[in-house]
Amino acid sequence: SRMDQFLAQLPKVELHLHIEGTLEPEMMFALAERNGIALPYRSPEALREAYQFDNLQSFLDLYYQGAAVLRTRDDFYDLAMAYFKRCDQEQILHYEIMFDPQTHLNRGVRMNTMMEGLVGAQQDAQRHYGASSNLILSLLRHLPEEDGIAALEQAKPWQHLINAIGLDSSERGNPPSKFKRAFELADSYGWHRVAHAGEEGPADYIWEALRDLQVRRIDHGVRCQEDAQLVEYLIHHQVPLTVCPLSNVRLGVYNDLRQHNLKQLLELGLCVTLNSDDPAYFGGYLTTNMLAVQNALKLSETQWIQLTTNAINASFAPVERKMALK
Ligand code: ADE
Ligand code: ZN
Repeated sequence: SRMDQFLAQLPKVELHLHIEGTLEPEMMFALAERNGIALPYRSPEALREAYQFDNLQSFLDLYYQGAAVLRTRDDFYDLAMAYFKRCDQEQILHYEIMFDPQTHLNRGVRMNTMMEGLVGAQQDAQRHYGASSNLILSLLRHLPEEDGIAALEQAKPWQHLINAIGLDSSERGNPPSKFKRAFELADSYGWHRVAHAGEEGPADYIWEALRDLQVRRIDHGVRCQEDAQLVEYLIHHQVPLTVCPLSNVRLGVYNDLRQHNLKQLLELGLCVTLNSDDPAYFGGYLTTNMLAVQNALKLSETQWIQLTTNAINASFAPVERKMALK
């Protein structure tokens, strides 16, 4: 349709994307073979069939298991480059990608290995596609804060190539306040701060991320609507929310896209952005998310342009780059 055409060609920005969540079953099998690792599935198709999640934790279990095939610098390069190529095909001109170093450090993969692969791919994508990108080092909230601080210390030599700290993994029972000191350390590196909050966890975790971690953006944040004062605050301060519609449906945050509050939040005047989260696991990249949202919620062209403008404003790109993107 004309609207699908409009969405396909619209210049895009992606702000909530886990690079480990772009590991397609085919690449997982290829890397497993390259590294001599056995996978507990017969084929990429059999693996894909196992992607039926009841909640965040049931997804995370498979996601961490899958990430275990990533061992070498080339593995991280190939993983990132496949996503960057995809971005070029979808008119995604700027992206801010998260990675979970603890997932890899705790298996004996060194910070240098990850960083050389990821930064190498970022540089090549800039050269080949003219795209700009930022790297967000995300801490695993189910692990102790000390483990996160140890990861940050390993990242210190790379601090100028990392743009922000993030916080992800099992939300319930792991409130943002647990990571106050880690976020202060990241602040001393000159990094921006973001955190997953209000995905499965309560609206209070969004307040905590704002107060205790001083975050500049909230990843997900869809449960903010359970607290009217919080909604007021998010509107007044234009705190960006990086909303991930297909992810929310696949993880049972909403039963159906038609029940998703993305359009409502946008119409209330929140700084909403649209993102794909873990596209290899949740059924599609950014354009697929947009088409599914359009099908379920029917946004106007003006609203789609607003979502993109919000993402440009909410990004950590330098001002000159932001102006070029507009
Ligand atoms: N890690 C990867 N994707 C995530 C999500 N949607 N929520 C929390 N942790 C994650
Ligand atoms: Zn996420």
